[in-house]
Amino acid sequence: NQGPVITIDGPSGAGKGTVSQLVADKLGWHILDSGALYRLLALAVTHHGMSFEDAETLKVLAEHLDIQFEQTPEGKIDIILEGETVTQALRTEEVGNFASKLAAIPEVREGLLVRQRAFSQMPGLVADGRDMGTVVFPAAQVKVFLTASAEERAQRRFQQLQQKGDTVDLEELVATIKERDERDANRPVAPLVPAAGALVIDSTDLTIEGVVDEIMSEIVKAG
Ligand code: C5P
Repeated sequence: NQGPVITIDGPSGAGKGTVSQLVADKLGWHILDSGALYRLLALAVTHHGMSFEDAETLKVLAEHLDIQFEQTPEGKIDIILEGETVTQALRTEEVGNFASKLAAIPEVREGLLVRQRAFSQMPGLVADGRDMGTVVFPAAQVKVFLTASAEERAQRRFQQLQQKGDTVDLEELVATIKERDERDANRPVAPLVPAAGALVIDSTDLTIEGVVDEIMSEIVKAG
C-alpha cells in the first residue's frame, strides 16, 4: 500500500513549498519537492558540461541521478548531489530557469517519472510541482492548484532572495517569472494546468495560514 497523495501544483513563487511543508507536518506525511529534482538535474547537466541536444543521455542521467538526503544537526534536510552538498546552490534563479528549459524535454520528464512515484509511501505524501495532479499522481485523493499574480510572486521571491543577501532587480524578476510561467504553461508535454477537479486557490491576498486552512478542510471533506 503506497498510501494517499495530495498534490499541490502551481507556478513558481505561489508558495507551494512552504504550504506543502506545513500540510505535510500537520499530517505527519512525506513530502516531494519535484521542482528540486528538475533543479538537481540542471546542476548535474552543468557540472558534466552536457549538451542539451542529446535527449536520450539526459533521460539516462535523470533516471540515475545520484541524490542523497542528509539530516543536519539543526534538524533540516541537506541535499547531496554526486557527493556534494547543493542545498543552497539549487535555489538560485539561474538554476530554476535552466531547470525549466530541461523540463520541456519529454525524455527528461520520463526519466524523472519513476523516481517521483517512488516517494509515494505510507502514511501518505504531499507532492508539489507543476504536473503532480495531472501526470505523476493522477489518482491523488486531493488536488490543489495554488496560484497568485505574477507581481505578488515576484515580490515574495524578491524578499526571499534579499533575506539570503542576494541582490536582484524586482522588474527583472517579474520579467523572468513571467517568462518561466509562459514556458511552463505552453510546453507540449505536461504543461502547467489545473488538474481536473483541482481546488484552485489564488493566494494573492491570502496568508500562508489561510491557504493551509483551506487545504486542510478540503482534506477533511475528502475523508
Ligand atoms: O518549482 P521550481 O521552481 O523549483 O521548479 C523549477 C522548474 O522545474 C519549473 O520552472 C518547471 O519548469 C520545472 N518543473 C516541472 N514539473 C514539476 C516541477 C518543476 O516541469 N513537477
